[in-house]
Amino acid sequence: MKILIFGSGYVGLVTAACLAELGNDVICCDIDKGKIDQLKKGIVPFFEPGLQDLITKGMHKKKISFTVEAASAVSDREIIFIAVGTPQKENGEADLSYVRAVAEDLGKNLKNYTIIVNKSTVPVGTGRLVAEIIKKKYAGDFDIVSNPEFLSEGRALYDFMNPERIVIGSNSRHSVKKMNKLFESFSCPIVNTKIETAEMIKYASNAFLATKISFVNEIANICEKVGADISEVTYAMGLDSRIGNKFLNAGIGYGGSCFPKDVKALNHIAARNEYDFKLLKSVIRVNNDQRKLVLTKTENMLGDLKEKRICIWGLSYKPDTDDTRESAAIDIIKLFHEKGVTISTYDPKVDYDKLEKEGEFVNKIIFHKDKYKALENCHLLIIATEWDEFKQADLKKIKLNLLEANIIDGRNIFNIEIMLENGFNYLSFGR
Ligand code: UDX
Repeated sequence: MKILIFGSGYVGLVTAACLAELGNDVICCDIDKGKIDQLKKGIVPFFEPGLQDLITKGMHKKKISFTVEAASAVSDREIIFIAVGTPQKENGEADLSYVRAVAEDLGKNLKNYTIIVNKSTVPVGTGRLVAEIIKKKYAGDFDIVSNPEFLSEGRALYDFMNPERIVIGSNSRHSVKKMNKLFESFSCPIVNTKIETAEMIKYASNAFLATKISFVNEIANICEKVGADISEVTYAMGLDSRIGNKFLNAGIGYGGSCFPKDVKALNHIAARNEYDFKLLKSVIRVNNDQRKLVLTKTENMLGDLKEKRICIWGLSYKPDTDDTRESAAIDIIKLFHEKGVTISTYDPKVDYDKLEKEGEFVNKIIFHKDKYKALENCHLLIIATEWDEFKQADLKKIKLNLLEANIIDGRNIFNIEIMLENGFNYLSFGR
């Protein structure tokens, strides 16, 4: 099928690469000329395992192309995906300005019947809004579909190619048929619903997973008080198929471009509809408090933090990505900066230059390219992201390079007995 995708971020590019791999003809359109110029040269502007190769393959097979020209790209397309960002406003509401801008472009440029598919996570009712904006300039026929994405960064290609469900929200039979055809090679259930239901499925799924994490973090906090071990508690909980064994890892909480934003947006949607979503408010609070717990644990370990230097391993919000959006590590660094602590850090994939440009970190963090070097002159190591290379790190080398053998493990990656045997003063979460 002939496809156009507005937005060349994680969702847009992964969708493009995978749909091209499935044999479709895909054009990617983005307003960021710099990004499109890079992509035309075959350079993916962020790290996602396998994506670079799949984009290159698609380009060689002439199945993917890139443009900033919405007008010419729209003309012969059968399906147009909207995969632009929906950042968070100050009040937690989703900012729909990019989605609106695409809808306006579509209104101006559509010539024939086209299916417009929303992949961006948008408040319930946005499908209708997009249709209204298009109709102001385009009197022809079109259909709106909501097809939320459930990709996890770091395994996005796998998730796209091996979905557990595909949700297609639409009010038209023709578009449902066509969307089902697009996804016919997948064997998972395809859930056909109303647009509003599809939009809610995405928020409800992410909010539920975030709730699972905050719940486990609270259980972990109680475990510490009563002498129980959260790892064993969650292992046994997870054996109950009604609970499931995923998303039960305690620690410094969730981050990323989805959970924090979507949970706040759903809370905002509830408030706008005069519903007080009490549980969700607590989920947000617990997650913020987990960051602060690192500071409390550090003060308990080191006493006065003045003149102290701390090493943080891991800056991305989770392993296998270079994404630092809403990362727990960044929040923790900000808390330490308020206390005047010097931070030394190492991350295997994060682009330090980009981070410095985007953040308020200039001159405030010492970035290292060697994890052991980052430990030098530090009083404490904090594990903020569970990269595999940290799990396999040389404990003797860590001890040798630190000023004092202190570790706070924000992701529970080390075995407590082994840490104690190696002479570490070791604190983790809920154990
Ligand atoms: C998430 C959803 O999983 C995905 O379906 C949706 O489309 C986008 O949002 P992502 O943000 O890539 O994906 O990461 P995910 O693996 O879900 O992790 C989110 C955060 O939760 C990370 O910061 C992770 O460290 C944290 N987390 C996850 C925990 O703290 N404990 C867990 O048990 C699992």
